[in-house]
Amino acid sequence: MFGILIGRENLRLFESLDWQLESDRWCNPAVAYPTYYTCPAFHGIENGYLTEVAAITYDAVTAIATPPHETWVRRQLLKAVNTSPQRILDLGCGTGSTTLLLKKMFPTADVVGLDLSPYMLIVAESKAQRAGIEIDWQHGLAEGTGLEPNSFDVVTASFLFHETPPHIAQTILNEGFRLVRPGGQVLILDGSQRKLRRLGWLIHLFREPYSAVYAAGCVDDWAKAAGFEQVKTQALGWIHQLTQGTKPLTDPSVHQL
Ligand SMILES: C[S@@+](CC[C@H](N)C(=O)[O-])C[C@H]1O[C@@H](n2cnc3c(N)ncnc32)[C@H](O)[C@@H]1O
Repeated sequence: MFGILIGRENLRLFESLDWQLESDRWCNPAVAYPTYYTCPAFHGIENGYLTEVAAITYDAVTAIATPPHETWVRRQLLKAVNTSPQRILDLGCGTGSTTLLLKKMFPTADVVGLDLSPYMLIVAESKAQRAGIEIDWQHGLAEGTGLEPNSFDVVTASFLFHETPPHIAQTILNEGFRLVRPGGQVLILDGSQRKLRRLGWLIHLFREPYSAVYAAGCVDDWAKAAGFEQVKTQALGWIHQLTQGTKPLTDPSVHQL
């Protein structure tokens, strides 16, 4: 039954790995897990993303939870990329579903996928290997990546913000602003805040601890507060939204001589 749910490749991966050993291999010792991430019910399951069960079941659950069709929803983010990016960063990349689509769409770009869960990165790397795709997977904190400023053409985050407290979403957008080059883009795909406000039962169903406060907030406002311009949010499919913004060519906080 478990095998039917997660698929044959994932079942083989689940059974063949020493997960503790593999996750230790992925762990960046400089990373400290924030308390919101290690709260018992993060992601609505025990131990949140820091288990192999979360990682191995994630894709199957997401396929059901992303109507009308998961790949269609993810592709709307790809379609919004308005340049030919050479460097792309996917924050909270999870098992890499959006990251892999980005690399397939922009094969010459260097693509970095960053996530706090070594377990999710194990699955992401396995999917990339099966697809023959090279991605730079990194274990790290989206709100403090330590990556070079102005070093990406596009920074994305899909299905990350409904899981984090709003002040963390804001800090992640501030970090995205720091990382994206002037004229570069930020693209945030997630649940529709407007619709989720009216769908309390759905928030209750997934038991995500921060979804209600996410729904009450406004990614548009957070992106503007981070410094992005031309910010707009469009509704996608049944229950999703895509927010995009551009980093100004000149940083208004830098005084011109
Ligand atoms: C719902 S999953 C989304 C995964 C993937 N982006 C997708 O579209 O399927 C959220 C992911 O964000 C990661 N995450 C949550 N908070 C994070 C943070 N502060 N820094 C980095 N990753 C984080 C989790 O480990 C998890 O893999």
